[in-house]
Amino acid sequence: MYRTHNCGELNIKYINKKVILSGWVQNIRKFSKYYFIDLRDFYGITQLFINKKYILFKINNEFIIKVKGIVNERIKKNLLLSTGEIEVKVKKITLINKSKILPFNIENNPKVSKKIRLKYRYLDIRREEIKNNFIIKSTIINKIRFFFLKNNFIELETPLLVKSTPEGAREFIIPSRNYKGLFYSLPQSPQIFKQLLMIGGIDKYFQIVKCFRDEDLRKDRQPEFLQLDIEMSFINKSKYIFNIIEKLIKYLIKKFYNQNIINFKIIKYNKAIKYYNTDKPDLTNKIYKIKINKNIINKKYNNYNILSFILPNFLNIKNVKIKDIINIIKIKNKKIFIFDNNNLFKNNNLFKNNNIIKNIIEKKFFSEYDILIILLHKNNNINCNKFFNKINKLLFNSKYKKNILIPIWIIDYPLFKYDINNKKYYSFHHPFTSPKKINKLSYKSLSKAYDLIINGIEIGSGSIRINNKKLQEKIFYLLNFNINDINHNFEFFLNALEYGTPPHGGIGIGIDRLILLLLNKQDIKDIIPFPKNYYNKDIMLNSPSKINEEILFKLGLKI
Ligand code: AMO
Repeated sequence: MYRTHNCGELNIKYINKKVILSGWVQNIRKFSKYYFIDLRDFYGITQLFINKKYILFKINNEFIIKVKGIVNERIKKNLLLSTGEIEVKVKKITLINKSKILPFNIENNPKVSKKIRLKYRYLDIRREEIKNNFIIKSTIINKIRFFFLKNNFIELETPLLVKSTPEGAREFIIPSRNYKGLFYSLPQSPQIFKQLLMIGGIDKYFQIVKCFRDEDLRKDRQPEFLQLDIEMSFINKSKYIFNIIEKLIKYLIKKFYNQNIINFKIIKYNKAIKYYNTDKPDLTNKIYKIKINKNIINKKYNNYNILSFILPNFLNIKNVKIKDIINIIKIKNKKIFIFDNNNLFKNNNLFKNNNIIKNIIEKKFFSEYDILIILLHKNNNINCNKFFNKINKLLFNSKYKKNILIPIWIIDYPLFKYDINNKKYYSFHHPFTSPKKINKLSYKSLSKAYDLIINGIEIGSGSIRINNKKLQEKIFYLLNFNINDINHNFEFFLNALEYGTPPHGGIGIGIDRLILLLLNKQDIKDIIPFPKNYYNKDIMLNSPSKINEEILFKLGLKI
């Protein structure tokens, strides 16, 4: 028997109990007559107290040992550790396996490059931080699965050896041995399959699935990543997807981030570009303009112009004061009114009627940490960008008392985007996205696509789909797919659309990215057990790697 208990469970209740523990030697403190050893396993660390006479072999860090002993109360307690009130007084110690000297210590922030950590990933996983990420990841994935099953979705798998689909990224290609010169590709997402499932009458589907994309990497990108993939039938509006996803995300944020979130904001794509200069706005630390109509302002200020903006999350910032912001707004003869959630609706002489402003602000989802600044001035042309940039810089470098997550839906995307270099139109999302107005299809059309952005990171993306062959064909033509390409890649799908396709829509959520946010971490690699490095390489396996010529020959890749 290797163990009666694990290294994380013994406490004061077990005093005088005989136990057997097995684990890794985390650290040894040697004294003349006895040793203290911290013994570590998956569950925690237990201090061992060993008389030197029992130690009959050389012990080093990360050796695996088995000990038999009795639980004693510790003289010096460590209340930060769940086992910190006890130690095991060892009577017998056995060596189970040795370890070479490690390339880095198993500790928080090891003093070693990320490259070495990835090369020895199995050792990196022994570190508490990485291990805890995986434990929470597993819990979150189970909660997600439970959530969808409870809401009557069914979980189905879709194939991984597929045919190429145009979703924007490059694909990984798999040569076929049986059919030389022909290829499978790995799916960028199960997009077409989930639509086919809806045509097959599956009402609500979900899957937690690996997706593959041959892209340049960033801190929030990996060539293979986990997606929560969802599709629902008999819906033609985004609100049905929003409802279910908001319910899930609110639950996860409350449970794993300890934050009650107010509301998901909804911002149109063109407004996002106009106000934040990006379609992935981070509203935790960026000022944004809102429109306040002159006719709700008291007559007394009639001869002033109005500028108004919200500083989201401002009351949560430690080191920036309101006066720092006002100092940046260098405008002559101005009057500034500042409101937070508490005094927003109090009687003041700025507004004719406080109910009107209350309505406006509620629509903008003013949160408990936001402030509203209303600036009255008499200048005719003011360049807001100048002071906006300065304020954004100040906010960006600030520190929060409490980190918060602000989710936003971006809607009303263009259906197409034009690439000047290639002189070609592409789908803004993917070609299966429904236009907003079906009858007035053009390159200027808006789409029924939506993205979920949290703190500036794209967490999810989806749309209401096209469920009509003619419309789908028109989109392919507008994308300049030639007829051979259409027949080669999509004939089956266009056919399927003709057999009574229900209205449907869905979304794909990047699970690794979502967990990154929930755990307040920066690098997606810390969430994935065996990630690739920035150059798309697995430096532990040294892959991609060359393949034996004989195999290449059998695959028809070499003559
Ligand atoms: P999209 O391509 O936007 O949509 O992907 C959905 C979400 O997956 C995550 N994601 C990634 N995460 C890590 N590494 C990557 N390389 C990576 N690429 C994407 C993002 C993204 O928002 N078929 C559509 C979904 C649909 O329309 O239902 C799709 O895959 O969080």
